[in-house]
Amino acid sequence: MTKHDRMKEVRDDLFAFELSPLYEYRTANKFFPVIGEGSHDASIMFVGEAPGLNEAKTGRPFCGAAGKFLSLLLESIGLTRDKVYITNIVKDRPPENRDPTPQEIALYSPFLDRQVQIIQPKVIVTLGRHSMGYVMRRYDLDLELDAISKIHGKTFETIYFDENNQPHPVTIVTLYHPAAALYNGGMRDTLKKDFEVLKKFI
Ligand code: URA
Repeated sequence: MTKHDRMKEVRDDLFAFELSPLYEYRTANKFFPVIGEGSHDASIMFVGEAPGLNEAKTGRPFCGAAGKFLSLLLESIGLTRDKVYITNIVKDRPPENRDPTPQEIALYSPFLDRQVQIIQPKVIVTLGRHSMGYVMRRYDLDLELDAISKIHGKTFETIYFDENNQPHPVTIVTLYHPAAALYNGGMRDTLKKDFEVLKKFI
């Protein structure tokens, strides 16, 4: 199966994910699940938290205000959205933009794991503390996990195993969520500076 076909399977499974506590809210509001967007051959994969209203209405990740800032950050290091892959841990919008619950993260994370298997990125960039927590624990970095205020902008080397149990090295980069920077100039500068760490992977 091609990467495209495998990603389509992820998409079909998400559309049919009635098990999710967010499924009814999605369908009642005619929202879409947000699968992800970008290159299936990307070496850098960005993982946000969960779709907001704009994302749920369009089915596209990071297409609101935080997404605009993410695009600017990408441009600041010479990248464009089509060269990377952008997704979230939780693929449906939680009501009122509340934080995803641990149960929702547990339910949706296997979809993210499948996307990592398909894309096989060299770098996974976590945006915000929820994706940081999940990704670091998932890839055996529990001992390095700390408050995001302490480890933002850092890189962690680890490995993941593909379906054939073959190990792949991967670097995890932990960044603040771009939404955190929208109304905080200091945080904007921090995020811009932290983004520079990605230059060496381009
Ligand atoms: N915030 C996220 O974490 N993901 C999106 O797709 C949009 C906003």
